[in-house]
Amino acid sequence: MILKRILPDTVVARAVAILVAALVAVHLMGYWGYRVSASAVAESARDRALAERLVSIKRAVANIPDPSERDRAAHALSSSSLEVHWSRISLVLANAPLTDRAKATAQRLKELVPDLATEAFRIGFADDGAIASGETEPYRHMLLISMRLDDQSWVNFSTPRLGIVPHFDPAVLALTICLAVVIVVIAALLLAWVTRPLRDLAVAAERFSLDGKPEPLDESGPSEVRRAAHAFNTMRERIRKLVGERTQALAAVSHDLRTPITRIRLRSELLDDTPTRESIEADLFEMEEMIDSTLEFLKSGESSEQRRRLNLSSIAETCVDDAKDVGRDIEFSGAENLSVEGQHLAIKRVVSNLIGNALKYAMTVRVEARRDGALAELVVLDDGPGIPDDRLESVFDPFVRIEASRSKETGGVGLGLTIARSIARAHHGDIALANRVEGGMSATLRLPIAPIQPARRQTARSAARLPVLRV
Ligand SMILES: Nc1ncnc2c1ncn2[C@@H]1O[C@H](COP(=O)(O)OP(=O)(O)OP(=O)(O)O)[C@@H](O)[C@H]1O
Ligand SMILES: [Mg+2]
Repeated sequence: MILKRILPDTVVARAVAILVAALVAVHLMGYWGYRVSASAVAESARDRALAERLVSIKRAVANIPDPSERDRAAHALSSSSLEVHWSRISLVLANAPLTDRAKATAQRLKELVPDLATEAFRIGFADDGAIASGETEPYRHMLLISMRLDDQSWVNFSTPRLGIVPHFDPAVLALTICLAVVIVVIAALLLAWVTRPLRDLAVAAERFSLDGKPEPLDESGPSEVRRAAHAFNTMRERIRKLVGERTQALAAVSHDLRTPITRIRLRSELLDDTPTRESIEADLFEMEEMIDSTLEFLKSGESSEQRRRLNLSSIAETCVDDAKDVGRDIEFSGAENLSVEGQHLAIKRVVSNLIGNALKYAMTVRVEARRDGALAELVVLDDGPGIPDDRLESVFDPFVRIEASRSKETGGVGLGLTIARSIARAHHGDIALANRVEGGMSATLRLPIAPIQPARRQTARSAARLPVLRV
């Protein structure tokens, strides 16, 4: 879970994160390996140089016959890292314990410079024999060597023996970082290229619609993506076919039902029993209404009407006036001019469905037109029973009606809101329902405001005027 939150979201970002982690790991391991091997090489070189100096200094001192000169010469051969003295006694005492560390150092020096093996020498560390005494800690790294001359006198050496830390070069770090950045940038570009078909697939899935005949998705890219694109194309085709067949079947049944309805109506007219005849006619009327709404629903996605600039406010006002004419309590208020772009009949159907519902389920209706940023809003408010909160979305599904309203007077099949929402969405808008605190319901239609295009008309007019001016 935590990893999921930390990891970046896209495939490219995740792949780059993995690459960066791998690069960092490789470089850290490489750097560690380099340090280990570089210090081993440096220590070998130091030890060899030390062993060679031990042998040559000892021999040089041994060749000086005058003992009083020997210490001066030995001293003169000292350096900052190696102090040399000549003495009658050995600096490393004969009874000093020979520790493993000292033994290993002697062995190593002898291996590096075989000449040393022929010499008689004692070796020890300054703290040997004083184990566990904190006082000797500073001398832990002081190596003492005493080499015996033929006359039983000694050349004593002392040298610090610290671990060698290889020199750290910031240029190497800078170069490594530059290299890593170049690799990451190239990898990110390549990954973006490789995953482009995936993004196309996602966009196609988001825009999935059965209207018209959309171009099939390009089946290119890596094999997994090709397979996904192919599966998507096949799925879309199957859904199109399935929906097409069902729609046709439903349309055919709805259409064919009209003939028997007409026959029953004709026969019912022969009935003398007036109440029975009227009730049969009312039922037939309701059945015809259902057929009309079903056919309208089936056709709602197929309208070929041209889109043009419309005034949403005046469409709503016309609907309100029609209802007022038959004596309903309904008022329109708000913006006089709300321009939207769309199919006139379709938008009119949405508005009249919303107002029709309010009139059907409530007594008092208020319609407000307003502008909200880039959206035109038409709000239909009523004082009816409203819709239970948990059904506010499901009433948009086809043939869904709330039980309480399933009465004879209200009629209807439950397709009004389905059609209205599908038209609104096809116009890049939507419909939202809400229960009002003071009771009743509000249905809000939102559509994008049509862009203003007066410039073209003006130029057209001035262009048209030009010849007149010249005459
Ligand atoms: N203004 C409203 N007040 C209360 N309930 C509503 C309102 N508008 C819609 N409804 C509920 O939502 C259901 C679905 O509405 P919809 O317009 O889709 O179908 P309908 O009005 O029943 O039938 P028709 O297909 O004739 O429009 C309605 O049956 C009703 O129960
Ligand atoms: Mg309705």
